[in-house]
Amino acid sequence: MRIKRYLRNSVEFTLRQAGYELAPLGVSAPKLSFIPFKKTLRSAQKLGISVGDYIDRTSNVPGATQQAIDQMQALGIFDRDFQRICEIGPGSGRYLEKIKQKCSSAYYEIYEIEPDWAQWLVETYHVTAQPCDGKSLSSTPSKSVDFVHAHKVFTCIPIMASFQYFNEMARVIKDEGIILFDIINENCLDHDTLEKWFQVGYFYPVMLARQFVIDYFQNLGVHLIGNFYSAIGPGKSEYLIFSSHKVWRDTAIEETMAIPNIGFENMRYPQKRYRFSIYLVECSCSS
Ligand SMILES: C[S@@+](CC[C@H](N)C(=O)[O-])C[C@H]1O[C@@H](n2cnc3c(N)ncnc32)[C@H](O)[C@@H]1O
Repeated sequence: MRIKRYLRNSVEFTLRQAGYELAPLGVSAPKLSFIPFKKTLRSAQKLGISVGDYIDRTSNVPGATQQAIDQMQALGIFDRDFQRICEIGPGSGRYLEKIKQKCSSAYYEIYEIEPDWAQWLVETYHVTAQPCDGKSLSSTPSKSVDFVHAHKVFTCIPIMASFQYFNEMARVIKDEGIILFDIINENCLDHDTLEKWFQVGYFYPVMLARQFVIDYFQNLGVHLIGNFYSAIGPGKSEYLIFSSHKVWRDTAIEETMAIPNIGFENMRYPQKRYRFSIYLVECSCSS
């Protein structure tokens, strides 16, 4: 027993020195390490392009961000006058930048778990970074938000964190508000696509069952009003859009958006770069 405690203490001490803490899976703040902050900024600067375009170019399909924004526009998402917008996990802000341009007068708050990126977004886009515990929107009052959204977040974080966020999204939207996010579901994964994910060495994807997610929101009083597909890695994710408001329900374009052409062949992948990221889900960084 004493040897076990000694070994545990030694491991904990060593990890603390490196800025990590040992915690049982599911208890630590659920997070997946995002791309390195300084290195990404430097690389984008060197190429003379925006950080968003750099990320599209290097770890997604060029133009994928704009394509998703165009789909949202086509669904009429930006036709309304949003007063308060909340985004979970904006990362580099590649969606934030474009959405903020369309809704310039809205109060825009973010829940981003990586402090460097959160701080940078505050300075660059003048958004409000709320304290982020990795699973709740605790600084946002109930029924206060017009549009709560996330991109490529529930495709990779532990499912318990995703469902806690789903609860929270349903809590914070106004009666006429909109919830939008993408997931990798059974429509997005087949054996060939799985093989491509293996080939590029990306181990982060998490699959959520489509109908289960829709039923979950239905129980919370919000209904699917639209969907579209978007490129992620060598595959695709499906955007699901929900609202409780009758007007939105009556104009729903559910299940009619075409699957865009996913230009995987044009992608440049750093082979096997994120092989260890699956283990990082179990660590929470204390610095
Ligand atoms: C794959 S990135 C996507 C970033 C951005 N939305 C985009 O599409 O470029 C996932 C983002 O979620 C953040 N994240 C990871 N776990 C989180 C959590 N539990 N709560 C909030 N943000 C989280 C990461 O730091 C990162 O910014």
